[in-house]
Amino acid sequence: MASKPKAPSLRSVQWFGRQDIYGFIYRSWVKNRGVPQDQFDGRPVIGVCNTWSELTPCNTHFRTLAEHVKAGVLEAGGFPLEFPVMSLGETMLRPTAMLYRNLASMDVEESIRGNPLDGVVLLVGCDKTTPSLLMGAASVDVPTIAVSGGPMLSGKYRGTDIGSGTNTWSMSEDLRAGRITLEEFHEAESCMHRSHGHCMTMGTASTMASMVEALGVGMPGNAAIPAVDARRYVLARSAGRRIVALVKEKVPLSKILTRKAFENAIRANAAIGGSTNAVIHLIAIARRIGVDLKLADWDRLGRGVHTLANLMPSGKYLMEDFYYAGGLPVVLRELGEAGLLHKDAVTVNGRTLWENNKDARCWNRDVIFPFRKPFKKNTGIAVLRGNLCPGGAIIKPSAATPRLMRHRGRAVVFDSIEDFHRRVDDPGLEIDEKCVMVLKNCGPRGYPGMAEVGNMPLPPKLLKKGVTDMVRISDARMSGTAYGTVVLHVVPEAAAGGALALVQSGDLIELDVAKRRLQLLVPENELRRRRAKWKAPEAPLARGYWKLYCEHVLPASEGADLDFLVGRSGPMVPRDNH
Ligand code: FES
Repeated sequence: MASKPKAPSLRSVQWFGRQDIYGFIYRSWVKNRGVPQDQFDGRPVIGVCNTWSELTPCNTHFRTLAEHVKAGVLEAGGFPLEFPVMSLGETMLRPTAMLYRNLASMDVEESIRGNPLDGVVLLVGCDKTTPSLLMGAASVDVPTIAVSGGPMLSGKYRGTDIGSGTNTWSMSEDLRAGRITLEEFHEAESCMHRSHGHCMTMGTASTMASMVEALGVGMPGNAAIPAVDARRYVLARSAGRRIVALVKEKVPLSKILTRKAFENAIRANAAIGGSTNAVIHLIAIARRIGVDLKLADWDRLGRGVHTLANLMPSGKYLMEDFYYAGGLPVVLRELGEAGLLHKDAVTVNGRTLWENNKDARCWNRDVIFPFRKPFKKNTGIAVLRGNLCPGGAIIKPSAATPRLMRHRGRAVVFDSIEDFHRRVDDPGLEIDEKCVMVLKNCGPRGYPGMAEVGNMPLPPKLLKKGVTDMVRISDARMSGTAYGTVVLHVVPEAAAGGALALVQSGDLIELDVAKRRLQLLVPENELRRRRAKWKAPEAPLARGYWKLYCEHVLPASEGADLDFLVGRSGPMVPRDNH
């Protein structure tokens, strides 16, 4: 009996290795930019997945970054092919970049699967570009390395350092309270973002760049090298070289993104005081690759982890300082020595996480504290439960005010973000510092897209009294650069008929972070009466992607992915195209 022909080991051979009309079609058009025949000899073809866009200011240096990746691929004997995917600019996109994270992930997934790629390097930077590219790549599962664009240089304003987002919130509150002039406000805008790169606080972009490194899907040093530091380009080049080896060694992404890798990342997130957005993104990435990561894992794994990095918004330094102090490798070494790492987790450079980080040295202990004498104690993400959030809600203790972590107060309810903007500046608003601000209909379906509006600015009349924090609760997200005693991601969301939809101004709410409780102190029969009267808000748009999103988005506790995108289809090669 004739043996079955052996399947070619590289996907690209099924395009470029053909000696028929299809081979002609696949090769000939690529040759139009001067590619010689010998590039189609079966060498690994590497996709360089680029999120460059002038609409994504944080990623505008990515053409240069891509050139360095491609140089590395060529040096290692691979054949690089750069391609664009949907790029999500956090500061530009309305109603929120998060609405489009899943759409971009579909673009990435199908672009990789439908093309002759054996491996990919993902160029990621601004907040949503990291999870969207990793989600898409996870559903294909070819060898993958992520390269972050790096943080901007520190903002410098009148002799002090200022950080993206964190000082945007504080300066806009100063402006609203009349403490600074409009001229000073404009000057600060120019001083804050003065180089290429993404937000240089430990916001969502820096958090996700750190997650890339802690997951082992990026090269060591990925988290903190400034975007304009030549060493960022060296890292990109070494990733280009290494991806060719990963293809030859047949290491798909699923060999890197294991449960151990996610558990390491969760602990690293607590140790850097990372963004609450990492909770949603890591759950979504894990569920794509086939790791059943749950909200409860965040609480379990974060217990006993301390914040070591003194970085905004939890502390005072910026990513540039973090890099010069030793960066994430120092944090990972501290976690490993405290017994809080899976040391044998494999990373894309072929070494274990521990081999990469065990010798890291700290050059500034005011920026990165030792585990035995941490910057802040017990600061893992806390997952709350109670009748107000039966599906869970989260709070970031490192950014909260300790005395408010146990609090009972009268609810002041805003039914939508428009209602909030309409009333918050009203001097007649019945609110004091003991109240609990509640914002509804800002979750995945309600906004739609789950905007970063959970850190509601405080009413000016309280700001003028010197109040700096209050308990705030919503089904929204919060910018990773924001801070405060802010309960987020309430599940079920108000627009899905969760208990949050039933809260009325004047109700009492009790928060107890130590006990992981969030309770609406209203009798059950009264809640039943309110529920009977509740009507779901109208869907904002009845066509296109918005419709698809609203009909299929999962709750925040499940990563806010679209239900039909969970899991992977693998790298199967579809039919010929002609
Ligand atoms: Fe792009 Fe902050 S706006 S990372």
